[in-house]
Parts: sequence; structure tokens; C-alpha cells
Amino acid sequence: MAGADKHDADTVKRKDAIHTKILCFVFTGESIGTERLAIETHHMHPILNIAVKAARRAATVINRASTQVDLLTVESKAPNDFVTEVDRAAENAIIEVLRDAYPQHGILAEESGTSGGPDDSEYQWIIDPLDGTTNFLHGFPQYAISIALARNGVLEHAVVFDPTRNELFTASKGSGAFLNDRRIRVTRRTRLAESLIGTGFPFREFKHLDAYLAMFRELTQKTAGIRRPGAAALDLAYVASGRLDGFWEMGLQPWDMAAGALLIQEAGGLVGDLAGESAFMQTGNMVAGAPKIFAQLLSVIQPHRPAARQA
Ligand code: IPD
Ligand code: CA
Ligand code: CA
Repeated sequence: MAGADKHDADTVKRKDAIHTKILCFVFTGESIGTERLAIETHHMHPILNIAVKAARRAATVINRASTQVDLLTVESKAPNDFVTEVDRAAENAIIEVLRDAYPQHGILAEESGTSGGPDDSEYQWIIDPLDGTTNFLHGFPQYAISIALARNGVLEHAVVFDPTRNELFTASKGSGAFLNDRRIRVTRRTRLAESLIGTGFPFREFKHLDAYLAMFRELTQKTAGIRRPGAAALDLAYVASGRLDGFWEMGLQPWDMAAGALLIQEAGGLVGDLAGESAFMQTGNMVAGAPKIFAQLLSVIQPHRPAARQA
């Protein structure tokens, strides 16, 4: 019943948003482009707006390069871990926008590491300029830009932007999660057997391959299906928006998880490490999902986890 009330409240909010949109159009007489911007920013905290601006800048860099991936210079950071000038240029574009607006904030970015702000910065931006580089290099249209802001280690704002579909996933702590201008929620699924679960295969490091395959073997038989789309940040955004019921992966980095974790929490889902605790940003091992599915996923995964300290 509480859910239904909330749904009604959101319908009202949505109507308000449309109303605002129409008023904005009538009063300003501005173009559809400006009007679309007005509705998109309707719910947004000013900090989130800056993060969206940064993500869109990166998207311009990525889109321009996507038509000629064959021309890119691909470097290998480690076996099966690739980086191109597009990753770096997209990251620079993001950092430029964020620095310009918030010079005091610290930054943790995949390609350039930590920079900006004092060492003990209250605020830290966590950035993956191109999540799904391998997909991008193959012209497989499943990749995204991921930007999050943590304040004293607590995630406060999140953006995941899929430039191939123009899908913008956003969340601010306490204000819900959105896909473009629409509120999103995790699924109401209650049975693992009916669930579609996302994952990432180990591909760089294989020390936990056996543990992972044991989880995979059991979950293959206990779910409706498993998907490995290849961009963890987007997988998490799909859990938040109800396209997946749950997700798990081992060996992730903070920039793969930060924005997606807040999206899921703000969409009513749960995120944790392999023990269901909150240390996923430290361990890199993550389980996420709609509340009932999260619990059932954990009960399958936990017995196979490599060691208690690897949670
Ligand atoms: C990778 C993708 C992939 C996941 C890897 C990540 P990258 O990010 O998110 O889905 O399985 O663990 O490293 O390297 O393309 O930014
Ligand atoms: Ca990544
Ligand atoms: Ca990346």
C-alpha cells in the first residue's frame, strides 16, 4: 500500500514536471532543445547538474571516436586491460568541467588516479570515463560514462550515461533515482528462479576463477537467466531501472561501482560485498539487487566465496 501511495505521489510529481515544462515553453517561447534541458534539470541538485554536464562532454568525445575505432591506438595496461586516447580524452574533459566548478574537490579517476583538492578532501569525485572499453573497441554498443561524488566516503551524487542510447541515469542521496526525467525503481521480483541476473566474468585476474565458476554454475540453474553485457556501471544502472533483478561480480574497481551503487540504493535496492556487508568499495566484490533477490543471491554466493576476508 505504501508502494502504491508512493507511486501516486510520483505520478503527481511527473505531472508537475510536465506542467512546468509546458509553462516554461509558453513563457520563454524557447526552442524544444532548451525546453528538454529544463525538464531534465527539474529534479537536479546543482552538483548533479555539473556532473551531468561533465558526462555529456565525455560523451561528445566518445561518440566522435566511435565511428572510427579502427584508427585508435590501443595500449594494454595489463593483459586484457585496454586503454585508448579516447578513455584519456574523455577523462580530461570530465575533470576539466568538475575542476572548473569545484576546484577544492578531490578526484579519483581510472586513468589519472588521484588529483586535485587537499589530501583530506571532504569531497571526492570517482570517475570512469569509459566503462566497457573492450565493447567500445569492438563496436559493441554497451558502454557508459560513470561519475559519482562521495562526501567523507558517503556517496551523494551519481551519473551513469549511455551515449549510444542517450540514456542518462542520475541519483542524489535521498532524492531517488531517474532515467532521463523518469523516476526508476528496482523490480518487485521476489523469486530468484524468475530473475534475470547480470554479472561480469573474470578476465584480468584468475585467482578467484574457481570460486566465481562455482557461483555461476549454481546461479545458472537457479535463475531465469544470466547476462554479461560488459560494462559494470551500466549493469548496475540496469538493476536500478528494473531491467535486471540482480548483479554480482568480483574484482571491480571503485570507479566501476560508485555511481551504480547509489543509483541502486536510491531506486530501492540493496548493494553489498559477497558477505552482504558494506565493504564492496574496498574489496571490489559486489552483489546487488532488488531486496528479496539480493538476499537469495547472497545465500547462493556466500558458500562459494574464496575466504571470509575476501568478502
Ligand atoms: C570493465 C567493465 C566490465 C567489468 C570489468 C571492468 P573498463 O571496465 O566494467 O564489465 O567486467 O571488471 O573493469 O575497464 O571497461 O572500464
Ligand atoms: Ca570500468
Ligand atoms: Ca574505464
